[in-house]
Amino acid sequence: MSLFVSLQLDRSQSTPLYQQLAGEIRNLINSGQLKEWEKLPPIRKLARELSVNNITVVHAYQELEQEGLLYSQVGRGTFVKARLHQPEPLLKSTPEGQDYYPPGLKVMDQGRLQIPMGAYNFASAIPTPELFPVADFKVILNEVLDRDGGKAFGYQEGQGYLPLRESLVEYLRENAIEAYENCIQIISGAQQGIDIIAKSLLKAGDFVITENPTYTGALAAFKSRGARIIPVPLEEDGVSISSLKKALAKYHPSLIYVIPNFQTPTGISYSEEKKLALLDLCQAYKVNIIEDDSFTDLSYDYPRQPIKVLDQYGQVIYIKSFSKILMPGLRLAFLSAPEKIIPGLLTAKHSSDISTPGLIQRTFDLYLRKGLWSKHLKYMRDSYQERYHTMLKAMEAHLPQEISYTKPGGGLSFWLRLPPGSSANYLYTRCLENQVIISPGSLFSASEERDSECFRLSFAGLYPDDIEKGILAINTAYQEQDSKPLYSPLL
Ligand SMILES: Cc1ncc(COP(=O)(O)O)c(C=O)c1O
Repeated sequence: MSLFVSLQLDRSQSTPLYQQLAGEIRNLINSGQLKEWEKLPPIRKLARELSVNNITVVHAYQELEQEGLLYSQVGRGTFVKARLHQPEPLLKSTPEGQDYYPPGLKVMDQGRLQIPMGAYNFASAIPTPELFPVADFKVILNEVLDRDGGKAFGYQEGQGYLPLRESLVEYLRENAIEAYENCIQIISGAQQGIDIIAKSLLKAGDFVITENPTYTGALAAFKSRGARIIPVPLEEDGVSISSLKKALAKYHPSLIYVIPNFQTPTGISYSEEKKLALLDLCQAYKVNIIEDDSFTDLSYDYPRQPIKVLDQYGQVIYIKSFSKILMPGLRLAFLSAPEKIIPGLLTAKHSSDISTPGLIQRTFDLYLRKGLWSKHLKYMRDSYQERYHTMLKAMEAHLPQEISYTKPGGGLSFWLRLPPGSSANYLYTRCLENQVIISPGSLFSASEERDSECFRLSFAGLYPDDIEKGILAINTAYQEQDSKPLYSPLL
């Protein structure tokens, strides 16, 4: 039964009905029966349930909105507003041992993110579901079921369905990468790829060099093996080669992890010179490079190429995710690695999930063979490109000049910098109050930095119409930072 049916309104009282109703809803919120972000009943429905006029409900909702307990969004409804549990700005000087992050960030620190209903989500670089090629996939899936019957549901060989590995060799060759079926490992997402590499090549105490900042999922995988992270700063054309040289000489790492095109979170792409310098240095120190390639296909100005294309010494473990272009829930990706490390990867893969589901592998194989991948890639690139330009236009129009950003020319996000001394964690909390979610730079730090002047805005999961509204909300949150005191002294 709805919470609202039992609300007590007394017509004999002198207190207007809308105030009584507001009071009852206020009690529901304060007692926790109505949770943050929960949607309230539509006005007409609630008016009918309580046998009051629509206007009574409208006034009650308005009163609670003015108190900051509710918020409404045109076309979406009225919601309970989140309340900040930790009002102080999160300063870099937070003492050791305390909670560094506001509640939403703590959740994100565990690799998940709570998205309030109706909020503009600039934090997740995940495509909106209407972009998924569901109709084509359904046809191909049925064809596979008719063709393979029960075989599609057996255990698939651990390294991956051979025809798919053959198709992927073809795909790689079309992208100027030399590859062989026996060097390909099918994985259940790029994240699993990083994880099984860590499992098979690292032992506790080993050093791993990463760009700083970087993709948190990779840091988590390396740390889970007891590895020690050596962060190397990024410059605008890739990793700092002088810092990399020093780190290689000092730590003799077991692995280097890089995202050379449209890096997460900075959007930086390596120059060709830096790609070659990185390869040469790693060859000199005999260290394998993990190349995480989630975004090369998504360039909107000029094409980039993966480092793997230049890998003449066979030291690059190339991981290709299909999550951002196909469908993340398929949990399908692959890696192409030097042959000698494949057996170790296979053992690690086996102990993780035995094999990636055969039905998905067979369907994707047919999808590739029928040329549907190239068609869909073009569609996705065009769709993301539209969002990219909408985002740029909105940022140019609505963000103050002191917030700077670069134009990555591809990928799914922008990396923005606040004026010196500002806290992106703090901006995150202000944005949360304005029903907009950003990713503060601290989340991507490889050096345990607890706050940052930078933050990432991803446009993948927002419809073009919502991008401008979301940027306006960020601007409001930013302006409020200066004008609105967080707490007032009791004087
Ligand atoms: C840089 C990077 N690598 C890997 C992944 C994980 O991808 P997958 O969904 O294929 O596991 C992500 C996901 O966002 C990512 O951004």
